[in-house]
Amino acid sequence: MATKRKWGNSMLVWTSKSSTDLAVKAVATRWLASGISKPVWWVVSLLPAAWLFYAAASDNLGANPAEALIRSTGDWTLRALCLVLAITPLRTVFGIPSLARFRRMAGLFVYFYAVLHLLAYAWFDMGFDLVQIAKDIAKRPFILVGFSALVLLTPLALTSFNRAIKALGAKRWQWLHRLVYGIAGLAILHFFWMRAGKHNFAEVAVYAAILSVLLGWRLQRYLVAKRR
Ligand code: HEM
Repeated sequence: MATKRKWGNSMLVWTSKSSTDLAVKAVATRWLASGISKPVWWVVSLLPAAWLFYAAASDNLGANPAEALIRSTGDWTLRALCLVLAITPLRTVFGIPSLARFRRMAGLFVYFYAVLHLLAYAWFDMGFDLVQIAKDIAKRPFILVGFSALVLLTPLALTSFNRAIKALGAKRWQWLHRLVYGIAGLAILHFFWMRAGKHNFAEVAVYAAILSVLLGWRLQRYLVAKRR
């Protein structure tokens, strides 16, 4: 039976209290808190990279392997970004606190795929010519926007460890990690700009909608908390 329930002290959510739902939640919570869940998450997060590596080595990336590698790593960066931003809403709405254990790892995988994406571009499009790369960043606005997103991701990745959190202090760390909103905006702009030449916006719209819902959820919670 669905019931309206107060969640924490900030918002109302609908939760299902059927015994099946409770059992599923209990199993998910126990599994996510277990020792095996982190290695499994780690391996699953590496699967796209492993598949791309295998497909490249076995010549299975289609007619333009370089383009396929650059685009696929870009897509996986964006998907990883959506996933990391979904963790807190999922944890709160479904009441699964143990999901928080995966936030850092999920964040680092965003960075991992972003760096692979940059390396694929730098290698296959630019032959690792740093001068040409700098000229391209200055010349093509969509590359500049993607590069800015990666630059902003760097302090987040570097400060995702306990020692950095301690050194910065929780408040400053939290402020710094709000950069993720700007990164999400830049990532969508980068994708939009890249597709603008082809007037192909369907996928861009899907990712923009997902990120808007995830960021809108946080904004709504922030505004409710501020009003109290
Ligand atoms: C957070 C950082 C980034 C995200 C989320 C991201 C995401 C994406 C996405 C989703 C695509 C389109 C893939 C498709 O068409 O299916 C793409 C394409 C591309 N990105 Fe990025 N990107 C990022 C950073 C960068 C950086 C740092 C560079 C280079 C300096 C870059 C260069 C490119 C290039 C060259 C393409 C392909 C353009 C083409 O094939 O015409 N991106 N990126």
